[in-house]
Amino acid sequence: MTAVLQNDRFLRALLRQPVDQTPMWLMRQAGRYLPEYCATRKQAGSFLQLCQNPALATEVTLQPLERYALDAAILFSDILTVPDAMGLGLYFAEGEGPRFERPLRDEAAIRQLQAPDPELELRYVMDAVREIRKALQGRVPLIGFSGSPFTLACYMVEGRGSSDGFPVTKTMLHDRPDLFHHILQVTATAVTAYLNAQIAAGAQAVQLFDTWGGTLTKAAYQEFSLHYMQQIISGLTREAEGRKVPVIVFTKGGGQWLEMIADTGCDAVGLDWTTDLGDARRRVGDRVALQGNLDPSTLFAQPAAIEREVMRLLDSYGQGSGHVFNLGHGISQFTRPEHVTALVQAVQQHSRAYHRAAV
Ligand code: CP3
Repeated sequence: MTAVLQNDRFLRALLRQPVDQTPMWLMRQAGRYLPEYCATRKQAGSFLQLCQNPALATEVTLQPLERYALDAAILFSDILTVPDAMGLGLYFAEGEGPRFERPLRDEAAIRQLQAPDPELELRYVMDAVREIRKALQGRVPLIGFSGSPFTLACYMVEGRGSSDGFPVTKTMLHDRPDLFHHILQVTATAVTAYLNAQIAAGAQAVQLFDTWGGTLTKAAYQEFSLHYMQQIISGLTREAEGRKVPVIVFTKGGGQWLEMIADTGCDAVGLDWTTDLGDARRRVGDRVALQGNLDPSTLFAQPAAIEREVMRLLDSYGQGSGHVFNLGHGISQFTRPEHVTALVQAVQQHSRAYHRAAV
């Protein structure tokens, strides 16, 4: 028997149903800014070993919920587990971010690429989802996630993160669009199966992280990123345990393309902080919910400044449901945990006034 969900504000807001206060969670809410996370990571040996250990992944997923009144948990994992399961050999060079031992550089390797079976090669992720759902006991919903095919392809081709715009990847996109499309197609198939397996294992909402889609031209975004996200969304299981499973699309830097993103069939659009929340709401109307979009660096400031910015954001969205409070990107490892306490309290305290009509 699965436990009854005690707090469903997050799922309700994603479907634009009335709520008593604005729900919130934080991208990368389980991470290095929390000393307890650092301790568990040390116990695991490394970040990857932490991801691959369902008991410890469950422990860190629940850590931010013990500290803060958040309305959702997010599976502790990484977007790069999918290309790792495709045989690329993920590793983390100390202090340098993710790397692949075998990046996709030649046609033969690209033609051999295959979508992994999520219950085999990614079994440890599904085990983590099942174990987290048990541990949550219905406190809040669990979010599953994947990288978008384009964002995954950036790392798969480049072999690493990039501070200069993924030049090897962009070269392939222009010189060999056929090959690049092949990577994206296999990856889209993999992501669809991966997210459906997470939903079958217990994920109650899913988010596509398109971290690098915003670096493309509008035409290239449509062709190489949006198209594949739309394909994934149309292949997803949209109902489980008698409830809708909402889908969130977050394209960092995608503020210019909100209408197009809203048309993919997703339930909510994630915004980074460069897009004004009120403008975004006027543009998408009642087609989708919005998630975001506090600049993560606001959390370096004092509690009074954090509170002012929360009030501004809540006011910018305005009355009614359809807003999930979040950061505009992942929380920085240099954030002080007490500042997150101030953030959560400010959202709780000030958001109720925007939902009075509903209750
Ligand atoms: O939101 C959550 O709390 C869930 C966990 C999560 C992680 N990564 C944990 C993580 C999620 C959803 C991700 C997504 C992810 N991973 C993205 C898309 C979102 C984004 O932030 O843009 C990307 C591009 C990655 C790839 C990745 N993983 C990078 C670039 C890095 C290094 C960056 C850094 O901060 O060092 C990681 C490592 C990573 N993933 C960490 C965490 C908590 C830090 C690793 C550590 O503990 O040393």
